[in-house]
Amino acid sequence: MPDKRRRFFIRTFGCQMNESDSERIAGLLNQAGAVKADRPEDADVIIVNTCAVREKSEEKLFSYLGRLAELKKSRSVRIAVVGCVAQLRSWELLEKKGTVDFVLGPDNSAELPSLVKGDTSEKFVSTSWSEKWTETSPGLIQRDSPVSGYVTVMEGCDNFCAYCIVPYTRGREKYRSLKSILAEVRDLARHGYLEVQLLGQNVNSYRDPESGKAFPDLLSEVAAVDGLGWIRFLTSHPKNFGPEIAEAMAGINKVCRHLHLPLQSGSSAVLKRMRRGYTKEEYLGIVSRLRSLMPGLSLSTDIIVGFPGETEKDFEETVEVLSEVRFTSLFSFRYSPRPSTAASRLKDSVPKVEKQRRLEEIQRLQKTIQLEDHGHLVGKTIKVLCLGRGQKTPHLFAGRNEGSQVVNFSSDEDQIGRFVEVRVTGFGPFSLSGEKTS
Ligand code: SAH
Ligand code: SF4
Ligand code: F3S
Repeated sequence: MPDKRRRFFIRTFGCQMNESDSERIAGLLNQAGAVKADRPEDADVIIVNTCAVREKSEEKLFSYLGRLAELKKSRSVRIAVVGCVAQLRSWELLEKKGTVDFVLGPDNSAELPSLVKGDTSEKFVSTSWSEKWTETSPGLIQRDSPVSGYVTVMEGCDNFCAYCIVPYTRGREKYRSLKSILAEVRDLARHGYLEVQLLGQNVNSYRDPESGKAFPDLLSEVAAVDGLGWIRFLTSHPKNFGPEIAEAMAGINKVCRHLHLPLQSGSSAVLKRMRRGYTKEEYLGIVSRLRSLMPGLSLSTDIIVGFPGETEKDFEETVEVLSEVRFTSLFSFRYSPRPSTAASRLKDSVPKVEKQRRLEEIQRLQKTIQLEDHGHLVGKTIKVLCLGRGQKTPHLFAGRNEGSQVVNFSSDEDQIGRFVEVRVTGFGPFSLSGEKTS
């Protein structure tokens, strides 16, 4: 008998929280009797989980919707746009793009299963905020990785950095109860997961709505769950990264010696206009405190170049901080004005070619730093959590070390889902390579 179940395909843009939301959506649809398709061509419903953080993120969505419009000409398929652009553009998405059937904001994805089940040809939009946390039973979530699991601990942001759209797409900060977080972490551990990644736009401001416990307590209670190897968390904000958080990190072995701490700019004047709430000196102070507590700590960061009014001198300060701190990895972006944000009312004064030049300069510098630092690891043996096979090198296994560096390695036996000792034998700017020690 042919399988009559509805088939869904999910395409995810954006950050880890979106990836995690897509895993939850897949679980909810599964529970409603639908099955996942590997290609959009095989699906009855296509869900596009979207990101609005830069103009380019939205452009990518619109070009993808263009492709789906073509697909829709040849078969009956319904298209749901969910996530941050859905929240931001809401009805506009239906009006501008005849292609889209359903629009659901980040707080409204629980409404998807009933839409997918029904045969309605009506269009549907739901983008209302909810102050309450919507729980999904951990057993339902369809995770992409069998080794490392995302666990969302808070959502939204109250910071309103001048350039950032996230507070308008994810709303105000809300926190998940510690009890539910721990239930999900225990469920992961029971299923053999070795790593959890605690997610939130601003994890360090976490407060348990029931007990008032803060981020350091969250870390220690998660670490007390048996079976877990490594704990990571993201994203931290330097403004909320007090000494108590650094100490909690240093005091718990399971917490990886890696921190993503977005700097955005090395110029205190630019940071002030960005409304980041810290100076260059304060940022460097946090870094030196962290490194004295945890020698060898790996740090990664985000940089925006060409923020309104960024002078050559401001930019040079960013270059200096990058040379001084020597991050293990860098995510760098050209400033992109976003609707409703405070910076969108400032003149976008740095020309695009100049933004591009600055971007390329820091990326070149970062590449040199990474090549040098990776070179120092050759001949050393490092502990790697094997997450799967190399994307471009399927004959090799791939994983990350504690510092979140990508490591590809050879082994005669399957290593996926294990901690492996790897001897580093080679490197490129963005990864290390090696072999499992016997
Ligand atoms: N909650 C996280 C993630 C924010 S978005 C945080 O606070 O860091 C991820 C990164 O995108 C930001 O750190 C910033 O570097 C970049 N970004 C955000 N808005 C941007 C914009 N308008 N133009 C360019 N880059 C932007
Ligand atoms: Fe955006 Fe700033 Fe909030 Fe990060 S802290 S999500 S950059 S407003
Ligand atoms: Fe993008 Fe929304 Fe994440 S804007 S970065 S998908 S929070």
